[in-house]
Amino acid sequence: MTPAIRCLLVALIGSTSIACVDPLVPPPDRAVGSLPARVPSPDDNPTTAEKVTLGRLLFWDPILSGDRDVACATCHHPDFAYADGRALSVGVGGTGLGPARVASTESPHGTTRNAMSVLDTAWNGVNVRGESPGPAEAPMFWDNRTLSLEAQALGPIRNLDEMRGTSFDDTQIVPEISRRLSEIPEYVALFEAAFGSRDVTEHAIVRAIAAFERTLVARDSSFDRYMLGDESAMSPAQKRGLFEFVARGCTRCHSGPMFSDFRLHTIPAGKARHGRGSHTPGGVMRTASLRNVTRTAPYFQDGSHATLDDVFTFYAHVDRSADPDLAGIDAPMPIDFGARSDLEAFFTAISDAAYDTTVPDRLPSGLRPGGAIP
Ligand code: HEC
Ligand code: HEC
Repeated sequence: MTPAIRCLLVALIGSTSIACVDPLVPPPDRAVGSLPARVPSPDDNPTTAEKVTLGRLLFWDPILSGDRDVACATCHHPDFAYADGRALSVGVGGTGLGPARVASTESPHGTTRNAMSVLDTAWNGVNVRGESPGPAEAPMFWDNRTLSLEAQALGPIRNLDEMRGTSFDDTQIVPEISRRLSEIPEYVALFEAAFGSRDVTEHAIVRAIAAFERTLVARDSSFDRYMLGDESAMSPAQKRGLFEFVARGCTRCHSGPMFSDFRLHTIPAGKARHGRGSHTPGGVMRTASLRNVTRTAPYFQDGSHATLDDVFTFYAHVDRSADPDLAGIDAPMPIDFGARSDLEAFFTAISDAAYDTTVPDRLPSGLRPGGAIP
């Protein structure tokens, strides 16, 4: 189904502070819209209840890490909108959750990237008309370097600093995990129920995790309800913020239902402009989705900006020659105080949806859900 896309003139109803709007209606490819009603899933991995049950347990189970101490949920936790609330994630050897998590001194492995939220990643790549590129083509990571949730899941498992540690090399770790899981009868029964086979393969592990991730959606925000016709779902300040968001040129890149064009841009944010922590030259990064953005501080790929206010200050002084879509921003800068609070109000409207916060009571491995977290 096509998402609702409304002319931004409508956004001004209820606003008294803005008069002239006509030149600011964005071209259609730069509009924003509600999330599609249907969650896409690949032809070779349709979402089933059995896969989701298994995938949830795997997502929470630190048995997937070399030293059985880190789970996907360690860094993608419901308390932090399925990110971790940290500037840079701490995986192997760390203890604690979120900002309170500390790296161990013997194993001081940190990562060089800010954890992204897993919420709504089922729609990664969706365009303004609500069309997804096909789940097998959905771009993943800050630099789009991997396609599909299925392929993505192997990344952290094989990564030295995130989950693998030094006990296994990157060719050993996945066979090791398959072996561990196949020795637990409860897991074998869950794999059989989900895939019709008692073989615990890499193929089945990543498909179960991806099917679970496709259930982590937050699409009932005030903004979505407003776009679907509920005039009262957004407050006047939120509507003014939506207007500001378009008027300031933000939708030149933050467009569509995820507020991302999913394209790579050069905005000289964070340390990537010096090449550090970047997989692509010059700090070229995908436009960050702004879904749930009020819950995913700190910001940018290296977490270098603590608050939304810091981000607005960044954009007020950004080098507009860095990217063609920045050059086009002709709105007055710096962003003044009133505009900032309206933008923040708008960001609340795209962040306030209910999402699944279930933490499993127990895991078939007997390990603590989420690993070394409270
Ligand atoms: C140590 C913390 C950590 C762990 C553990 C971890 N992740 Fe991540 N995750 C990250 C970081 C950091 C990024 C961004 C990495 C990058 O862009 O290079 C990320 C990115 C992602 C993305 C991409 C989201 C997007 O919009 O592109 C998905 C999906 C994801 N992780 C799922 C998982 C799954 C599934 C697991 C377990 C198999 C997992 N993660 C384990 C920290 C972690
Ligand atoms: C030229 C394209 C472009 C424009 C225009 C743009 N952004 Fe961004 N935005 C990006 C990219 C790319 C990132 C990720 C950058 C990084 O982490 O290195 C980002 C990141 C962000 C983030 C951080 C999200 C997170 O989870 O870390 C916020 C907030 C944000 N932008 C808000 C805005 C606002 C507000 C405007 C308008 C004033 C705007 N952006 C204009 C491309 C753009």
